[in-house]
Parts: sequence; C-alpha cells; structure tokens
Amino acid sequence: MLIAQLSDCHIATADDEFAKLYRPAEKLVEAARHVNSSVNRPDLVFLTGDLVNSAKRKEYDVLKEILPEFKMPVYLLPGNHDDCALLRAQFPDHDYLPKSGDLCYAVDGWPLKFICLDTNLHGKPQGFLGEEQLAWLDRELAVETTRPVVIFMHHPPFRTGLVSMDEMGLLDRAAFAEVIDRHDHIERILCGHLHRAIQKLVGGALAQCCPSTSHQVRLLLGEKNELGTAFEPPEYLLHYWTETDGLVTHSDYVKDYKIAWTLKDGVVS
Ligand SMILES: [Fe+2]
Ligand SMILES: [Fe+2]
Repeated sequence: MLIAQLSDCHIATADDEFAKLYRPAEKLVEAARHVNSSVNRPDLVFLTGDLVNSAKRKEYDVLKEILPEFKMPVYLLPGNHDDCALLRAQFPDHDYLPKSGDLCYAVDGWPLKFICLDTNLHGKPQGFLGEEQLAWLDRELAVETTRPVVIFMHHPPFRTGLVSMDEMGLLDRAAFAEVIDRHDHIERILCGHLHRAIQKLVGGALAQCCPSTSHQVRLLLGEKNELGTAFEPPEYLLHYWTETDGLVTHSDYVKDYKIAWTLKDGVVS
C-alpha cells in the first residue's frame, strides 16, 4: 500500500498577506491534483498538522472546500497553528476525530495500524502530549503487537539543530521516547512542523519530518535567534509498504518535472 503524507499546508484566506506571499490554498489544490494523477497514487492521505495558518474559522472553510479534491480518504491531524475545537466542529464528517478530549485516534483495517497523536498545546507554538495521551498511546501499542504501527504527530519528538524551531519543539519528548522504547513493532514516527525532510532514531524507531506543501523553513543549523522561510519546492512524502520489505519512504515534489528518458520493456522513450 501507498500512504501519502502532506504537511503544514497553512491554509489562509485570499485577503490575508500570508496567502498573498505563499499561496497555500492554491498549492494544496495543486498537491491534491498531483497525488490523484500520480502513477504512485496513494491509498490514503495524512495531513500532519498546521492545516491552517491562524486558527480561524474562515481558514477551515477554505480547507473544507479543498479537501474533496483528494480522491482517496484523508485523515487530519492538528498542529500548533490549529484550533482543535474549531477543527472538530468544522469537520463533523471526519468521524474518526474523537468528540471530546485530545484529537488522537487509531486507524484500523490496513496491513499497518496508524496511530495519530495530538501535540497541540492550545495557542502555544510548542507541542505537548501529556500523561493521559501517552498512557493511551502505550495501551494502543500493547493491544496488538504483531501488526506494524505507524505513528503520526505534528511536532517531532527530537531536536533537529534548527535552533529556533527546536524552541517550538515537543516538550515531553523524553516521556514519549520512553513509551516508544517499550514496543518493538513501531515501523515509523511521521511528523510535520519543521517544513523540511529530517530523520532521527527515537526510542529505537525512525522518526521523520515531512516538508510542507506551502513553504519550507530555511536550513540554518545551529543558528540561534535566526529563522527564515524559503520558496523551496512544495514536497510531500510517499510511504510505500510491502509485506516483504516493510515501509520505505520516498519524497516527491508536487511539480511534474520534464522527463529526460524512460526505459520500458526494453524501449527508450
Ligand atoms: Fe507549519
Ligand atoms: Fe507547526
């Protein structure tokens, strides 16, 4: 199976200066059309947070208009730019979202089990899971120990070296790593927030950040008090699962680049 992870679409309304700078809504539509028509068309899409930019109802209205562009099921996660109450209220048809408490849930019915976490700290840029959600995660991981698990969460559970972004990191990452360390069937931990492709082992599992469909964060390793964005190409991750080889992650640009050549059935075109 193929799972597309798109992240940090930061939808804003057309009149917003942010939207004039980055065109996030148009870019998400382009991304949806790209994954729909791709030869590597995914079975499922996960949007790993910062769905909108300023946690406004009108921004969720724009997102609501865009989501039907995707021709496969889409699962939503909150990021620090989201408002969980608004998200829940605006998407009642996304009935996997719990009616109260943290917006964490599990998706069954596939060869992999997907566990989605809520790192939103209500108005703050940092992420936090909390004891209750970590206990829920621990229980969900213990329910079935043979089927591999993929965890989705907005804030990555590790420091990246992008110092200004790390200051907006997951506060209880050590407690999270302890839970992960107790289980050996975690195939991947998939995150957003950093607007770049970054990987690190956490509690014995590979944790990975997804680039943004809107704009990327500048690569400023070790730089204190410096943060910037760049118009690097919109990008997403494609996670390819086979029973024989497990989960392999590829990245793809939203743009269709000109093909230099293709060799098919011995013929070059
Ligand atoms: Fe973001
Ligand atoms: Fe974020």
